[in-house]
Amino acid sequence: MKVLLMNCSPVRNGATAEITNIISNHLKRRYEVETVCIDDFDIAFCKGCRTCHQTVKCIISDDLDKVMELYEWADIIISVAPSYWADVPGQFKSFIDRCTPWCNTHEPHAALSHGKKGYSVALRTGPSMKECDRIIQSIEHFYGHLEIECSDKLGLCSIEFKEDVSGRINEINEFCNRI
Ligand SMILES: Cc1cc2nc3c(=O)[nH]c(=O)nc-3n(C[C@H](O)[C@H](O)[C@H](O)COP(=O)(O)O)c2cc1C
Repeated sequence: MKVLLMNCSPVRNGATAEITNIISNHLKRRYEVETVCIDDFDIAFCKGCRTCHQTVKCIISDDLDKVMELYEWADIIISVAPSYWADVPGQFKSFIDRCTPWCNTHEPHAALSHGKKGYSVALRTGPSMKECDRIIQSIEHFYGHLEIECSDKLGLCSIEFKEDVSGRINEINEFCNRI
């Protein structure tokens, strides 16, 4: 099984990257894992022109297709996203918006192969799980319209820096055991 693991934060060495590394090290024992950071890619904002509703293709030419090739390659997609103002980071949201050609709310639309499983991990500094749930909902909404099956989730509160992750390794490993 092939796993695409995405650090959805623009920070390459922060708490999100630390959680992503723990998940990668755990899953590498069983699966082929490709880890990327949203900031590895140059993805412009969606212009909302809806041309893709007719053409099934975005008018902008950038790194979006590289990410979608990885989505197509993977059997399992894991998105790890911090809360930035109670939502996913803007870079990841831009990517989601640009996936409109693959979104099943309009015909015709492009489609990923069937049978992919999606997992969501949210983290935040504040103490309430409600905000993690909101992040997870955004990711699952996206998975749903790409017809990726929402399979499991993990919310981690009270994390600001990578040093805060060390006390949460058991929770992260338990999540990995369910993948
Ligand atoms: C721009 C920005 C906005 C943030 N907004 C929130 C927030 O609304 N709620 C919260 O609990 N944490 C918030 N945080 C804290 C991050 O969720 C937390 O520090 C997380 O560990 C960041 O991971 P990263 O450094 O890997 O991006 C924010 C952090 C940044 C940089």
